[in-house]
Amino acid sequence: MAFKILVTSQKGGVGKSTLSANLAAFFSIQQHERTVLLDWDPHGSSSNWLNSAPDTGVHVVHQSLPVDQGGNRPIFDARTQIRRALPNCDVLIADLTWTDSLASELMFEFDMVLVPTSVSEIELAATAGFLNRNRWVFDAASSKRPQLVVCPTRVLTEQLRSNVFSKQRFQVSFMLAPAVLEGQKARELFQRGYLMDQEDLCGRSFYDFAKAIVAARLIRETNMAPVKESQPVGHLSSPALAANKPYRPTGVLEAQSATAQYSILGKYRQRRIAEGESLKAKPVSGLGVPDFLKRLTRPSAKL
Ligand SMILES: Nc1ncnc2c1ncn2[C@@H]1O[C@H](COP(=O)(O)OP(=O)(O)O)[C@@H](O)[C@H]1O
Ligand SMILES: [Mg+2]
Repeated sequence: MAFKILVTSQKGGVGKSTLSANLAAFFSIQQHERTVLLDWDPHGSSSNWLNSAPDTGVHVVHQSLPVDQGGNRPIFDARTQIRRALPNCDVLIADLTWTDSLASELMFEFDMVLVPTSVSEIELAATAGFLNRNRWVFDAASSKRPQLVVCPTRVLTEQLRSNVFSKQRFQVSFMLAPAVLEGQKARELFQRGYLMDQEDLCGRSFYDFAKAIVAARLIRETNMAPVKESQPVGHLSSPALAANKPYRPTGVLEAQSATAQYSILGKYRQRRIAEGESLKAKPVSGLGVPDFLKRLTRPSAKL
């Protein structure tokens, strides 16, 4: 059964196409999955990216949805395209700019809905509005409801510590992905290459993000069972990871410790911490509450 991911938001310029193209390349190259990209945007940015950059084996379809027609027509077209793509596909990624004329039911066609957002106040407000309008989908009692993952994108390193993803603002069940950092490379690589191959902070943050999505998928597919400690999450062959430089992109995610959704991707985070890359040198007095809670969860925790 293919895993279907919708990358969407109402705002343009937040990084939907960048994430869609790079995530598709990641699933194909790093995860060895048969991957399909459905580019539903008239601009065709993500399909152009994959069609012009070195071939990753992703099957690319560019066919915009008739979003302005509203009603059931876009859903009908989406279903038809998905059904056509599925027979030879393990992972399907759809890139779509949402409009209010679209019926929220479209989201039920997917296992996971990724909503990229920057952490600027104006964009957070727009994202919160979008999610609140569609919250019945993510809070639906049906086990078929898609998993909502909010993806901070274009985040500046100085914003990593911001605590902006509060329950007050986002009144819907969601998971928070590790932030993808703002970086010149993300712009330069359009139609040329892929973030997963870059060793700069932006590339490494993307790699981290993509692995977290793999982890979230595993959790979903094992019916929310916890990820086993020994279970590999993705391949570790990226030059970015091989370089093994100290890198802690976690700030925005850590801000979520008090919420239920934190615990999901938090498990993935805990693996990283158990691998010994952080916290060690910090005295307890210097830890924020999320760090402190994580320290407590480590079997060898020394307080
Ligand atoms: N992580 C990033 N760092 C810097 N620039 C980015 C990043 N992600 C996207 N961009 C740039 O932001 C602009 C919008 O990105 P795009 O992926 O087209 O967003 P959307 O599909 O949501 O409109 C593009 O110029 C793109 O190169
Ligand atoms: Mg786009």
